[in-house]
Amino acid sequence: MKTEILKLLRESGDYISGQELCSLFGVSRTAVWKVINQLKEEGYGIEAVQNKGYRLRLNPDVLSYSELKSRIRNNWAGGEIYYYEETGSTNIDAKRLGEEGAAHGTIVVADKQNAGRGRRGRAWQSPAGKDIYFTILLRPSFEPDKASGLTLVMALSVAQAVERKCNLKAGIKWPNDVVLNGKKICGILTEMNMETDYIQHVVIGVGINVNLDEMPEEISQTATSILREGGEKTARAELLQEVLARFEENYGMYEKELDLSYMREEYNSHLVNVGKQVKVLDPKGEFEGIARGINASGELLIETPDGKVAEVYAGEVSVRGMYGYV
Ligand code: BTN
Repeated sequence: MKTEILKLLRESGDYISGQELCSLFGVSRTAVWKVINQLKEEGYGIEAVQNKGYRLRLNPDVLSYSELKSRIRNNWAGGEIYYYEETGSTNIDAKRLGEEGAAHGTIVVADKQNAGRGRRGRAWQSPAGKDIYFTILLRPSFEPDKASGLTLVMALSVAQAVERKCNLKAGIKWPNDVVLNGKKICGILTEMNMETDYIQHVVIGVGINVNLDEMPEEISQTATSILREGGEKTARAELLQEVLARFEENYGMYEKELDLSYMREEYNSHLVNVGKQVKVLDPKGEFEGIARGINASGELLIETPDGKVAEVYAGEVSVRGMYGYV
């Protein structure tokens, strides 16, 4: 009932009388009053006016099961929600849920991670109350070699959501870091569970630096947060809602062609590497060239000094700017 009342208050934007809520849920006035008090304790600014009822005046930065459930209206992305105030890693939780048969689109969200994981075995700092840490579980019906493109689909979805909700120009550093003013605000870790020749499930874990005001010293040269760049706090649930809405739409396009052809232009328009001299850190041998954007498979096209164009696959290599992170 708490989730439903929250949803009604948010969607109406106006007063809803106590009596109306009582008859909608078939409960007493005291029961409604208790729920309203719980919401107030969680930080919601709810105004109660005699003869008018209740109105949601202020939507604070609350990340909770009810807040997420009352917002997410997609067909499948975020259809099932697991919310933890604290967990080890949402990717590990999602993988366990995948083994247990959880549905396509299930999300695991945490306010804090004790063992947040980054790419290449690195840790992902995940303090409480500031940022977004979530993982979505997917059960694609396509071939395993198509799964790597999903990471790029997620990067684009995060960039689009940040632009819509925070009014900032977000970029993508190939393949999947989202950046603001050349510094990273979002990392994505995709992990796949495969049977011999088909995908059991894929988990895509996303960490977004939202309201972090002080960056840890060791990453302050290359990382930032939405708050640091935009100067304003963002309601995390609202941003996450938008990321999931964008992802559901983009995933639908990816599934149609099983590549990024529908999103390529949009992705390239966000790509901060385009036209820049980059160093490709390929285990088979480093080389330099100018980044020209991605092809439909998500490979980065690099024009080398001899005029040839190399297609660089994300799984094997990473790309560095010549003068820093981007
Ligand atoms: C990177 O190194 O850029 C990827 C970072 C991915 C971090 C997210 S936070 C939510 C999910 N759970 C994890 O343990 N990692 C991912």
